[in-house]
Amino acid sequence: MYKAPRGTSDILPQEQGYWSYITQKAIDIACLYGYQRLDTPTFENAGLFVRSIGEETDIVEKEMYSFQDRSKDRLTLRPEGTAPVCRAYIEHGMHSLPQPVRLYYFADIFRYERPQAGRYRQHHQFGVEALGDSDPALDAEVIDMAWQLYANLGLHNLSLYLNSIGCHSCRPGYLESLTANYSKRQDSLCPDCRRRLRLNPLRLLDCKKPSCIPLTEKAPKSIDYLCQECADNLESLQELLKLLNLPYLIEHRLVRGLDYYTRTVFEIAPEGELVAQATIGAGGRYDNLIEQLGGKPTPAVGFATGIERIVLNLKKQKVAVPAISPPFVFLAYLGPKAKYEAIKLSALLRKSGFSVTLTYGDRSLKAQLKQANTAGIRHALIIGEDEVNNRTIVLRNMDKGEQETIQLDKAVEKLRQAIGGSTRH
Ligand code: HAM
Repeated sequence: MYKAPRGTSDILPQEQGYWSYITQKAIDIACLYGYQRLDTPTFENAGLFVRSIGEETDIVEKEMYSFQDRSKDRLTLRPEGTAPVCRAYIEHGMHSLPQPVRLYYFADIFRYERPQAGRYRQHHQFGVEALGDSDPALDAEVIDMAWQLYANLGLHNLSLYLNSIGCHSCRPGYLESLTANYSKRQDSLCPDCRRRLRLNPLRLLDCKKPSCIPLTEKAPKSIDYLCQECADNLESLQELLKLLNLPYLIEHRLVRGLDYYTRTVFEIAPEGELVAQATIGAGGRYDNLIEQLGGKPTPAVGFATGIERIVLNLKKQKVAVPAISPPFVFLAYLGPKAKYEAIKLSALLRKSGFSVTLTYGDRSLKAQLKQANTAGIRHALIIGEDEVNNRTIVLRNMDKGEQETIQLDKAVEKLRQAIGGSTRH
């Protein structure tokens, strides 16, 4: 028996209500803020991700699904959505458009992680990227979008965590101090952190191992090492967040698992749950990434949210989502002539905008109506040999159990009356 690969799952019909609810709210938010949709391929050249995410990150070291295709090209299933957007921005000369270029996307994301609740090997993201402007007002816009998305979805009790990890000119000083601080305590570090100390000290702050947590709490804070420009930037951003009534907490340990960030980084998580697999959405500024990928220097900022994590939280918080409507009418028939007539009528009804379903084969009328009931369909049209001969059909209201015989050629009109004049159902 085959099963879905570990860390992946099927999104079953009964779950789709959540997915279409979230997708629609995300598109609404993107439109409200003037963002345009961009779709990029599911796989890219492996080098794109190694360059952008960083060689010393967990994603590049352990989690990428990379393979060589038949032309011996080295490809990777996208482990995140920002680098592909930057690649497309450069490839399509978007720097010549009015800046910032505001884009949004839905993407399936692949990371070879240890699966657990809220952490999968294939997950889905909604993300936005605003490219071509360094004004902290753009950071505030992106954070506001994330916050308003969750509010519109009906989620509450979320916290916004904020940090600044500086830029190329002030970060080296901070890293020096961080490294000096951790070097004194090397013996108490986990093996991963001993490596991080040499290769990527910022990631030390991200360690969730009980032996390392006390060290992260006492570690020097990046915001104490910011250059004037980065400090002013953070200051302006905080003012704007206050202006927009967005409550935030400065979290010194927030450094993110991707190397491309500069200055602003943020995460949104259920209150009191700043652990990796609880974060619902996250992002930040990445002012050097486009240049690093071969484009012109282009500051940018963005965020992405995991759709599975939103579903998890909607369920946890018991947010009711609109159910996906069943077909409007069920066509039941008895006998071969009636089947022929039913199929003809189903085509006519669909052309008129009514959603219709029917079963095939020789099922009893009782079985057919039971099926309509189980599917929650409110109207049934029933046709047998007598009705075919008389050019009539029975219209049954499944809720009330009432039915009437109508002229076959009046079926569309009668259904229209049943829904009060509109045709799309
Ligand atoms: P990220 O924090 O790696 O950021 O992922 C964004 C969101 O995707 C997370 O907050 C979480 O909701 C969800 N997520 C991540 N990994 C998993 C997983 N294994 N299973 C389920 N959900 C997951 C990025 O990917 C950046 N590209 C975000 C960004 C956009 N930064 C700037 N622009």
